[in-house]
Amino acid sequence: MNRKELQQQLSGYLELMKTSGISYVAGRSQVIQDNAISASTPREAMAVGERPEASVTTLEQIRAELGDCQRCRLGRTRTTLVFGTGNPDADIVFVGEAPGRDEDIKGEPFVGKAGQLLTRIIQAIDLSREDVYICNVIKCRPPENRNPLPEEIESCEPFLLKQVEAIQPKVICALGKFAAQTLLKTEAPISTLRGRFHDYHGIPLMPTYHPAYLLRNPDMKRQVWEDIQKIQKKLVK
Ligand code: URA
Ligand code: URA
Repeated sequence: MNRKELQQQLSGYLELMKTSGISYVAGRSQVIQDNAISASTPREAMAVGERPEASVTTLEQIRAELGDCQRCRLGRTRTTLVFGTGNPDADIVFVGEAPGRDEDIKGEPFVGKAGQLLTRIIQAIDLSREDVYICNVIKCRPPENRNPLPEEIESCEPFLLKQVEAIQPKVICALGKFAAQTLLKTEAPISTLRGRFHDYHGIPLMPTYHPAYLLRNPDMKRQVWEDIQKIQKKLVK
């Protein structure tokens, strides 16, 4: 591969990363010379101890591992794989079900009507979308927004777990019945799951109603507000 091809590949890859909410890439800077890539200096010169996070898989590595994912059949019908967006160091991760039409087109989670409500819910606890991390259990849109199939969950959920491990948030908020039941491996109804913390791989997880459900049932906003306030208290601890 010549230098120009390499640059084109790299720039395409970085653009793809950007659509996944990754705004910087950590690692050694590399100087590309005519026929060789030589690892250059500034980062290498740093003491090892200055980069304690070096052994943890980063979000960009997880995104790269997903690649042009065809692990399940949703790969064939999606427009864009919706990886997740927001702060890689967030204290809170919001997890929804799967991308809908708007998200599939934009490559960003929760950008449609339900997403606008989620933005307001986040703002209600004095945070912004940039402070938190937002993603879904399933990264690709199911055709006609049908429910994800067991094999689709099985292929995709390991990547959510990796994202959570990379971010190490203080709290996870599972949005709606599907995310709550899938993450907690239960068939209990969302009405009984919500309102208290559960454990997801050692991290407190609060299920609450999905913003799309709230749009249809505005009376439920009071419960969501209670759940969100419990999350806010947990964040300041
Ligand atoms: N609903 C979800 O569960 N996730 C999205 O990203 C959008 C709508
Ligand atoms: N049903 C769902 O799928 N989600 C909710 O949040 C509530 C009811």
